[in-house]
Amino acid sequence: MSTTDLPLDPIEKASIDELRALQLQRLQKTLAHAYANSPVYKAKFDAAGVHPGDCKSLADLAKFPFTTKSDLRDNYPFGMFAVPRAQVARVHASSGTTGKPTVVGYTLNDIDTWAGVVARSIRAAGARRGDMVHISYGYGLFTGGLGAHYGAEKLGLTVVPFGGGQTEKQIQLFQDFRPDIIMVTPSYMLAVCDELERQKIDPRSLSLRIGIFGAEPWTNEMRQAIEARMDIDAVDIYGLSEVMGPGVASECVETKDGPTIWEDHFYPEIIDPDTGAVLPDGAQGELVFTSLTKEALPIIRYRTRDLTRLLPGTARTMRRIEKITGRSDDMMIIRGVNVFPTQIEELILKSAELSPHYLCVLTREGPLDNLKVQVETAPGVDPQGSAARAAARQLQHEIKVHVGSSVEIELKGEGGIERSVGKARRVMDLRPK
Ligand code: DLL
Repeated sequence: MSTTDLPLDPIEKASIDELRALQLQRLQKTLAHAYANSPVYKAKFDAAGVHPGDCKSLADLAKFPFTTKSDLRDNYPFGMFAVPRAQVARVHASSGTTGKPTVVGYTLNDIDTWAGVVARSIRAAGARRGDMVHISYGYGLFTGGLGAHYGAEKLGLTVVPFGGGQTEKQIQLFQDFRPDIIMVTPSYMLAVCDELERQKIDPRSLSLRIGIFGAEPWTNEMRQAIEARMDIDAVDIYGLSEVMGPGVASECVETKDGPTIWEDHFYPEIIDPDTGAVLPDGAQGELVFTSLTKEALPIIRYRTRDLTRLLPGTARTMRRIEKITGRSDDMMIIRGVNVFPTQIEELILKSAELSPHYLCVLTREGPLDNLKVQVETAPGVDPQGSAARAAARQLQHEIKVHVGSSVEIELKGEGGIERSVGKARRVMDLRPK
């Protein structure tokens, strides 16, 4: 593991008191800005009977109403912006599987803030002066590519703006350009690993030292698998377009213990997803963010639907989130038991006969939901063979014991599960609507 030789921002090591004071001052400013300049926030605050002046402490934030994805959809495309459209320097949008996309906007200052937190994230991953960063997150309306790009440039590194897909060409450039860092979704990294194996290229002959992976849930078991296959340090970068994009939180390579939230820009809360009550640090619940410095689209108590816990700072003063277990949207309820794809992933990765390419297929028989886990065997392992069948039985048993659900396992040969170039789809829902 190599740590950075680049200087940290002073706030990364500031005292908790200094950080909380800065947060309160920025929160009050953000609430006032949202109320004064966004009619949507004004209406929401008025309906809840709160005024920015009611925020005297950070705990007072709990008096303010939540913002959800439907607020953004209802005010599509630019209705929640708090600056005139002409001051918006860039828009991004998240695709969403149904309905209209959610559109987000940034002023030039916002873009600079964003680049700053991504730069911090890349540095926390162990970037060193002179490093080259290969970006395989998609460019375009998705925040991954351009978000990573501006951050890497701001840190003073050399950027290779590849984007997703064309795996063979990406690998050619790894060999020719010799990048030190790759930024990509963990599921696409696996596809790259497979292609390296297919071409019989030893990952150790490549120059990659660090992988900065995010945009989808992935487990510590997946981290270990990628680190071992690629001989790199793999760290977790978290973010969402509504709050900013990548770099809302990111892991420090020296601890690899969950993303540090860049709390001087994003104020986190954990709430009970059913009641909306704020939970104490350490409790599991839904992550909620309030932006502290954003101009174009201030976001107040945004419900991410991501489930995690807030943990105390370790490598930095700022708090961490535990690696995200999953989104409430991806939670499957099988005969009354809650199941997340990441729980399945963790168990699949224990088996040498299975590969981490998998898909959870939900069907319904009468009143009951069934879960079938489709999983590929490891390269060279015959899905019909006895070793693979034994591994499938073992996986079924482990899921029963550790998750508490009876599931069916369907083995697939190499390439039997569709590869993603961006975010992997882990759940296919075939239940009648
Ligand atoms: O995925 C931003 C991003 C790009 C983050 C590149 C990291 C790297 P959205 O498309 O708006 O933005 O999707 C946001 O993706 O609410 C989580 O459910 C999920 N997500 C993002 N990062 C992680 C992560 C980008 N590290 C949604 N772990 C979020 C788990 C993640 N889930």
